[in-house]
Amino acid sequence: MIPPIQFLDLKAQQARLGPALRARIDSVLAHCQFILGPEIAELEQRLAAYCGAAHCVTVSSGTDALQIALMAENIGRGHAVFLPAFTYTATAEVPLVLGATPVFVDVDPHSFQIDPEDLVRRIASIKAQGQLKPRALIGVDLFGQPAPWPALRDIAAAENLFLLDDCAQSFGASLAGRKLGREADATAASFFPSKPLGAYGDGGALLTESPDRAALYRSLRTHGEGTTRYEVLRTGMNGRMDTLQAAVLLTKLDVFDAELTQRGRIAAIYDADLPPTVTIPARVPNSQSAWAIYAILLPDGPTRDRVQASLKQAGVPTAIYYPRPLHFQPAYQAYHSGNPLPVSEDIATRILALPIHPDLAETQAHLVGEAVTSALGRATP
Ligand SMILES: Cc1ncc(COP(=O)(O)O)c(C=O)c1O
Repeated sequence: MIPPIQFLDLKAQQARLGPALRARIDSVLAHCQFILGPEIAELEQRLAAYCGAAHCVTVSSGTDALQIALMAENIGRGHAVFLPAFTYTATAEVPLVLGATPVFVDVDPHSFQIDPEDLVRRIASIKAQGQLKPRALIGVDLFGQPAPWPALRDIAAAENLFLLDDCAQSFGASLAGRKLGREADATAASFFPSKPLGAYGDGGALLTESPDRAALYRSLRTHGEGTTRYEVLRTGMNGRMDTLQAAVLLTKLDVFDAELTQRGRIAAIYDADLPPTVTIPARVPNSQSAWAIYAILLPDGPTRDRVQASLKQAGVPTAIYYPRPLHFQPAYQAYHSGNPLPVSEDIATRILALPIHPDLAETQAHLVGEAVTSALGRATP
């Protein structure tokens, strides 16, 4: 019998890793250094080595990683921060929390990554308006695939923008044969439980080649402290990762590459099994996805909704990332120029994410493919 299909199966992963996880957690319980215990330094060293980055500073979440990176550059009021309209809310929320203004950029209709041509147009338009100073560009590695980093680096250099990689969804992915983590001035990772490398709570990290930035990140994550604990050099935050989360991540890092391979196998099965009426995810050239999300496009919105309902009935859980682009969210509408972002607006109506995780059996993946095929048969009049 084929077990029920889960969208994400953290219980199966936990059963697989059980004794190793418990040994790591027990060791934290034994030494009781719950804040900045030895596992934090060990994890920082392992994460930096994993992606070939010079420095890694763990933090309390992916959102806090983005915030600390922008705080370190003094980004705030009067500054424009360019970011894709089709991403998770955190990417836009952080500049706003710091008083800066997000400027939404459209995405590529095939890869769903930020569109460099639209970015150039939006930067020119902000400069022409003359009210905001362009200061930063956040490239998002959406769904497990890399953003178009070579083009983003050229634009950031030409416009003198701080370049931040929001790698929350894509830690473990690679571009041109190297792991993400060195594409921008700083890279923010998230270890939210559902991410390919997930903790048992919130967690994140910053990766950078710059020793000065790394030192600032360490200070900012601990209330802006200086060389001694009660010397406060700058306004910071309580943004540290818990030692227990580091213990969980160290265990999961041991099997991470094998899990990424398994995610890749599931994606290949979907590619082969899905019918031609479905648009499968276009691959970013010269890259390897971390397959956080396998998102297909259906021909139109009503078909997407009918297919999703049919799949639910057939026992196949799905999710919609994202049902609205950010400039249509009530919280962010006011920051939208009014210029349409047609690709983001269109794909939000047609996108659907299928289950993908390392504990999904290949037989189950074939069943998902069959279920989509038969749902489309029913959905298409
Ligand atoms: C693109 C993106 N950026 C930032 C974040 C924020 O990460 P966290 O949930 O760890 O704060 C997420 C989390 O889902 C994300 O998907």
